[in-house]
Amino acid sequence: MEQGKDRKARRITSAFVAAGVTLGVAGGLAALTTTSSNAATAAGCTAVYSTTWDSGSGFGSQVVITDDGPAWSNWTLSYSYAGNQTLQNGWNGTWAQSGKTVTVTSAAYNGAVASGGTVTPAGNFTYSGTNAAPTSFAVNGIVCSGTVPPTTPSTTPSTTPSTTPTTPPTTPPTTPSTTPSTSPSSPGGGTGHVANPFLGATSYLSPDYTGEVNAQVAADQSSNPTLAASEAKMAAFPTAVWMDHIGAITGAGDSVHHGLQWHLDQALTQQQAGTPITLEVVIYDLPGRDCAAIASNGEIPATAAGLTEYESQYIDPISTILANPKYSSIRIVAIVEPDSLPNAVTNQSKPACATATPFYESGVEYALNKLHAIPNVYNYVDIAHSAWLGWSSNMGPAAQEYAKVARATTAGFSSVDGFISNTANYTPTTEPFLPNSTLQVGGNPLDSAKFYQYNPYFDEYDYDQAMYTQLVGQGFSSNIGMLIDTSRNGWGGPNRPTSLNSAPTTVDTYVAANKVDQRPFRGDWCNQSGAGIGARPTVQPYGASNHIIAFVWIKPPGESDGDYVTATHSHGDPHCDPNGTNTDGNGGTYSTGSLAGGDVPAGQWFAAEFQQEVTNAYPVL
Ligand code: BGC
Repeated sequence: MEQGKDRKARRITSAFVAAGVTLGVAGGLAALTTTSSNAATAAGCTAVYSTTWDSGSGFGSQVVITDDGPAWSNWTLSYSYAGNQTLQNGWNGTWAQSGKTVTVTSAAYNGAVASGGTVTPAGNFTYSGTNAAPTSFAVNGIVCSGTVPPTTPSTTPSTTPSTTPTTPPTTPPTTPSTTPSTSPSSPGGGTGHVANPFLGATSYLSPDYTGEVNAQVAADQSSNPTLAASEAKMAAFPTAVWMDHIGAITGAGDSVHHGLQWHLDQALTQQQAGTPITLEVVIYDLPGRDCAAIASNGEIPATAAGLTEYESQYIDPISTILANPKYSSIRIVAIVEPDSLPNAVTNQSKPACATATPFYESGVEYALNKLHAIPNVYNYVDIAHSAWLGWSSNMGPAAQEYAKVARATTAGFSSVDGFISNTANYTPTTEPFLPNSTLQVGGNPLDSAKFYQYNPYFDEYDYDQAMYTQLVGQGFSSNIGMLIDTSRNGWGGPNRPTSLNSAPTTVDTYVAANKVDQRPFRGDWCNQSGAGIGARPTVQPYGASNHIIAFVWIKPPGESDGDYVTATHSHGDPHCDPNGTNTDGNGGTYSTGSLAGGDVPAGQWFAAEFQQEVTNAYPVL
């Protein structure tokens, strides 16, 4: 896992004013309005063009077109670039380019647009030189008149976010609630498909993980019995089973981690009569996996043959095991491909990600199809975290990307039960002393602090609420549930602020004094120094009506995020090197924040990390 190593590709641009109208865009959306007027309006269109990301050599764009005339049964949008912008891929329509002219033809599902209706084709491009926005658009051959040439967006944001994050309604409970709070919906256990698989269920405790924990407890017992006593408590909490390579399906050659069937059999032995049990399994082996980093680079190449291998050697065997009727009482929560589709939004300037993206999309589509076909499997698709996709310029395109992949599945949107944020990351669920990203300090909004870089989403609670809205807006069911991986986002210990400090007079000093997230940079993601165990796995942490249906522990705390290159071995990721740096894409350079001595391959036990996370648990263990 290497969440967050995408931020080089993220660029902050400003909104600007066209035709005397401030277009309500923030945090990175450059916009151009072309409007029809009077008679022309009757048959015309409105087109709002936005640059959704721009790395300097690649960019994403979308065009919101509104039908200002009679209904369309199909539509073709055309426009031209002035420079050498070259189409890579597009969605919400069939994209083509001839010379400088781009055309998008409606897809079967979005050709019909009512009068006043809108449709939003979007695509990714490469370019060199200047990335000037197009200045004229036509739909079905009719020019949307009243074109106003755009101003080149500056690289410094000047607007406040369009969405003000909300404050969580309640403090999450500090005690786990993995025991049933309602009676099971089906007497035999997990058979059937319920809205919240965690509700009314007990949770699988992986003996692999409890074994790792207990070994550490034994090692620390005599030297530090107080620490060992806290560590021992960790064996009571459910963590996910990771299928991080084809070999993990059988568990062959791994003395610590067993195969999938073994875990399911263990779950059956743990299951109490008449009560469903949940088991979380991470689907994580796409072709070209981890395209933006090294720590968790995959085993399958990003090629057509690799996709076939993924489908036939990885997803098919997993599906066959999960579909065994003897496991039908287990509610299997599938965490689908962490860190994959977000790269389609923000990392297209990296060749490895641009190459991998079509295989990510096809692979996730295939996985969703096979897994959704099993009634007791629940699909939760990874949506990275607030520090990756929180900018409005990333969030909307991300929601479109998820919708595009879901729509391509046989069952469409129903193949997705929900989404998970913060998988294996460290972003806090809430920033209790920074509830308002637009709070003015020294004349500037808090999100203008260097730590936030104009990202209005400071924490996972606000991010998940906003993503929920975006995703439902793109067509997902309003019944989707949101999960947060809280395994390592506690940030307790002596450095955690305990009350609001309102004295600092600049945004940077105010944020530094009040944030619980102790990372030097929100893009740091590998074996973080100072991190602590977060909220315990909890069902409905904010009550039954909140879209966040559970806190879960997907990353087993104590297992490393990755190693780094040293004199003795060449494998490794510089993002994990405690002496290395990460960059923010705007010229800023920061410490990786990685723990010293963390030269431990991804997924293997890192004792010092576990000891620190237990020590800094919040709430305390
Ligand atoms: C690694 C996997 C590992 C998992 C659980 C991920 O970051 O890439 O190999 O199984 O963490 O520790």
